[in-house]
Amino acid sequence: QKIYLKDYTPPAYAVKKVDLDICLYEQQAIVSSRLEMTRQAAGELVLLGRDLQLQQVSVNGEVLSSAQFRLDSESLTLIDAPDRAIVETKVIIKPQTNTTLEGLYQSGLDDEMMFVTQCEPEGFRKITFFPDRPDVLSEYTTRLEAPKTFKTLLANGNLVEAGEVGDDRHYTIWHDPTKKPSYLFAAVIANLQVLQDHYTTSEGRKVLLELYAVSQDIDKCHVAMQALKDSMKWDEDNYGRAYDLDRYMIVATSQFNMGAMENKGLNIFNTSCVLSSPETATDERSFNVKAVIAHEYFHNWTGNRITCRDWFQLCLKEGFTVFRDQSFSGDFRSKAVQRIEDVAILRSAQFAEDAGTLAHPVRPESFVEINNFYTATVYEKGAEIVRMLANLLGKEKFRQGTDEYFARYDGQAVTVEDFLSALSVADERVLAFMPWYRQPGTPVLSGGVQYEQDKVVVRLAQKTRHVPNYDAPVALPIPVDTAIFDSNTGQLLAEKMLLLTTDSAEFVFDGIQLSEGGHPVVSVLRNFSAPVRLEFDYSDEDLVRLVSFETEGFNRWQAMQTLVNRWLFGSFDNVDSIAGLLKTVTDELLDCDPMLAARLFDVPSQKELAMAYDSDYDPVAVKARRDEFIKLIACALADKTTTWYQALPIQAYEDTPLARGRRLLRNVLLDLRLLAGDAAAEQDVYYQYDNATCMSERLGAFTAIINHDLGKKSLYIANFYEKFANEDLVIDAWFNAQALSSRTSIDDIAALMQRQDYDWNTPNRVRTTLGALAAKPVQLWTQQGMALYLSAVERLDGSNPLLAARLLSALARWYTLGDDTKAMAQSNLEQLKQKVQSKNVLEFLDNMLTV
Ligand code: ARG
Ligand code: ZN
Repeated sequence: QKIYLKDYTPPAYAVKKVDLDICLYEQQAIVSSRLEMTRQAAGELVLLGRDLQLQQVSVNGEVLSSAQFRLDSESLTLIDAPDRAIVETKVIIKPQTNTTLEGLYQSGLDDEMMFVTQCEPEGFRKITFFPDRPDVLSEYTTRLEAPKTFKTLLANGNLVEAGEVGDDRHYTIWHDPTKKPSYLFAAVIANLQVLQDHYTTSEGRKVLLELYAVSQDIDKCHVAMQALKDSMKWDEDNYGRAYDLDRYMIVATSQFNMGAMENKGLNIFNTSCVLSSPETATDERSFNVKAVIAHEYFHNWTGNRITCRDWFQLCLKEGFTVFRDQSFSGDFRSKAVQRIEDVAILRSAQFAEDAGTLAHPVRPESFVEINNFYTATVYEKGAEIVRMLANLLGKEKFRQGTDEYFARYDGQAVTVEDFLSALSVADERVLAFMPWYRQPGTPVLSGGVQYEQDKVVVRLAQKTRHVPNYDAPVALPIPVDTAIFDSNTGQLLAEKMLLLTTDSAEFVFDGIQLSEGGHPVVSVLRNFSAPVRLEFDYSDEDLVRLVSFETEGFNRWQAMQTLVNRWLFGSFDNVDSIAGLLKTVTDELLDCDPMLAARLFDVPSQKELAMAYDSDYDPVAVKARRDEFIKLIACALADKTTTWYQALPIQAYEDTPLARGRRLLRNVLLDLRLLAGDAAAEQDVYYQYDNATCMSERLGAFTAIINHDLGKKSLYIANFYEKFANEDLVIDAWFNAQALSSRTSIDDIAALMQRQDYDWNTPNRVRTTLGALAAKPVQLWTQQGMALYLSAVERLDGSNPLLAARLLSALARWYTLGDDTKAMAQSNLEQLKQKVQSKNVLEFLDNMLTV
């Protein structure tokens, strides 16, 4: 059941055309398909299908008898099929009871009931029999028929026909001229409102843009619409890529496993990634909406027109597309803040993956369940590799390389090797990056500085852990963006992108003119130029200097983070110096970049701090130390936080980087004031909640009320619920804010999960509490915490294995805990293994228990 990259063979049959007919009835749907197949390699004619009730199969007009095919739970094999075959099948499926949210399934109830598809990676086989693999590209025509109560019938491409069937049913027919793999198929049967707009491409094509949502949400689609237009323009300006159909549709659905899906011309989105209004969405979520809209739009070229040969190449489309969406987002805010946030995600999610039992290469070599490989490694580390290449080549050469990629492979299903080969026309050094795709584990980059008169020598060395079952690690090409400053004047003396290609090397800077008595302050890995763990021997004093004069915003933030880490791990004890720095930089940034100022208060999360331990990890001690630090900072800055807070009064809502930064900083300060015991803070929190102009202000205050257990807490919990009772995404935030608080016990979380409105079929709702528990190691790693968490995994294993496995993966580093806790965790995981069935959960459990 394990599938290997090395076993790849081309498909036996091509499918030139697909005609699909989906008729929806109250209890089921009938799906008829007609496939024009022609042989192109040796092998039998095998169609994949899962949970389908086969009614009939015919070849070239002749109905087959049961002796002419073999049918099992995964496939339909036609015996002695001709080289040219029109294959027609008719199957019954049950979208109404499909809780896996793959294939065609029902989302929502009553007025909001709709039927949507999720086919990537292997959901199409749950709709009809098909060679469901990404290297089979076909032209699709789709007919949808349903009761008239569902007035919205959508599929990929252009609408070619619509009409009635009897009195109470109707149909539409859609034709998609672009050849596409089955995972990009989509259909929607619903009753939705639409927001329309237009965009004229650089090639002069007038494109109809449509955003579909249930009526109460349609007014929350404007942010997404603007982001779509911005994305279309951005891809033309930056990559020369224009949209290629006359219509681009996006549908919002409340039950969805992931963020969104790039189906050709018909994206389907989790409501959480498309709906946004100031009253209901925080700045964070609103910004994420724009990023996900861009991500799915950019897939049209990186993923759809050029797709993956097989699922091992998933990073080909995801890594590149994430890099593209990150670049897009960086153009709409401070680039430093964008980089800080992207790196924070990489560190907390991807580094943990790379350091644990679920470590795998960016391009995996084997898998049991491909759904388990939609990971931070494939997406985020995959994006980091593309970023290294883009930085190495520089803007023009990178563009030359990507132009070559699009020209050479348009309309094809290709590999990572093909990608690098196209980029290498601009610069051959690109080819040396292939090992980054093959080798798991995060490289550790160490080094230091020596200098003599005007000569500065930077030593760098790399080491990657040997992950079991993989070849011994080799040295990777690591771009290290480096600058040298004068310790006295803070003057920038030199800047260079170093490229470490061996285990260790020395890089010499000549002619460095230092001031009288000054020494070189070297800043390495600026802008986080490679996805590595840095252990550079900076002195504490030089880190302090970098916080004040490093001109590159990311490394300025990083210098502060390094100091905070040193304090947390006991190698630096001067908390006043950190507070002093925060005082100076906040005064400096308050008016010009409050977002960066807010970020400089970041303290690594408990999950991130856990990464420092390969054994004897004690969550209680780590949390205590972290809490102590924040409290010390709050007290040291007590005379300033109120002043700053007052300098950031609530203003009429605006969606600009400055306004978003002010709101974020205000919330950070509110929290610090409460921690420091500021007497006026409590009234300010209630005031901010009561007078909020937007959700960032309201949720910031609400979270503070809960986290600090303020007197009117229960009043506000009730008020918030009542105000937003009809807004599912806001109620998600209500659940999450409570579950996340360290004052909320495991029993309280369990009680939240017992509520009527805790819907196990809506992944967004499920994650509000379980995601929170996973973010609270002190509670998670107890018998009670694990029992609650794993019982949810067990329950979901039956209904939604994809979600169950994702939740489980948060426990991958259980074996780093201290002995007793570790034994407890292990026995819980082993017990779970006896109770679950899905290959998603079993694959992870097997890997997790092999330490
Ligand atoms: N391709 C989608 C995206 O990155 C994600 C779809 C993942 N779906 C899944 N069932 N694993 O935008
Ligand atoms: Zn994607």
